[in-house]
Amino acid sequence: MRFLILGGTGGLGAELTRQCGPSATAAGSRDADLRDPAAVRDLVRRVRPDVIVNAAYRQDDWAVTADGAAHVAVAARAHRARLVHVSSDAVFSGRPGRFDETCPPCPATMYGAAKAAAETAVRAIDPAAVVARTSLIVGGPQTVIAARVHAGGVFFTDDVRCPVHVADLAAALLELAVSRYAGVHHVAGADAVSRYELALLIAARDGLDPSGVVAGTRAAAGLSGAGDVRLDSAATQARLTVTLRGARDFLTPG
Ligand SMILES: NC(=O)c1ccc[n+]([C@@H]2O[C@H](COP(=O)([O-])OP(=O)(O)OC[C@H]3O[C@@H](n4cnc5c(N)ncnc54)[C@H](OP(=O)(O)O)[C@@H]3O)[C@@H](O)[C@H]2O)c1
Repeated sequence: MRFLILGGTGGLGAELTRQCGPSATAAGSRDADLRDPAAVRDLVRRVRPDVIVNAAYRQDDWAVTADGAAHVAVAARAHRARLVHVSSDAVFSGRPGRFDETCPPCPATMYGAAKAAAETAVRAIDPAAVVARTSLIVGGPQTVIAARVHAGGVFFTDDVRCPVHVADLAAALLELAVSRYAGVHHVAGADAVSRYELALLIAARDGLDPSGVVAGTRAAAGLSGAGDVRLDSAATQARLTVTLRGARDFLTPG
């Protein structure tokens, strides 16, 4: 089975490519710019994948995150490739609590809106595709969130997420890729933790001085945004053999 990993030069894409082994082609923006439908089509025609995992995005670029996802779905459909589209908990906001797959998107940021638009496009173009929403992705010290902890600073106690280990996430996405499931799936970790608690856990794992992790609040900083967003992944977990471990589990030694 041939896999095409879009966003293959990124954090999640690199782990997906590693787990797929030699049957994977990893593509970044130099291989095909997702903003260009012809470039996407040509890449898919060249690689002839059975499965496409789209983990590509650009936080502040609607044309990549939303339009690009639509171009990928069109190409996947045309070439009868199975599509797994990676989405985000950023599609939610507005009320504290748990969000399962039945909750409609309610984004608070342009990034969240672009991810929600991408989901709608992918589901309309390719109803057989999997749309996999995830939360903060945690891996080694080079992961974005871990690098921030190494740099030190303020971490919010009122920003709550369900972080996932990059290896668990990649394994879950590949399981979904070879399944018959379609539609929205939540693929996040089992524990809801604040960014502050997460930063302390990462500092402890990496042997850093915890005094470099300073508690703050989004409210005191006067920032709007998503705040408390907990992805409920129970329904998807029941379909998987891989365990989506919680951050307290995978960041605690022993
Ligand atoms: N990181 C998180 O905590 C988090 C949380 C929730 C959801 N997600 C979702 O998870 C997915 C992967 O995130 P990540 O953190 O692994 O991403 P990342 O490390 O920032 O990698 C982004 C990837 O997108 C590619 N890309 C950017 N612009 C492109 C373009 N115009 N055309 C083609 N490819 C382009 C990049 O390629 P180049 O290297 O060539 O630029 C790179 O391979 C994304 O869908 C994101 O929304 C991430």
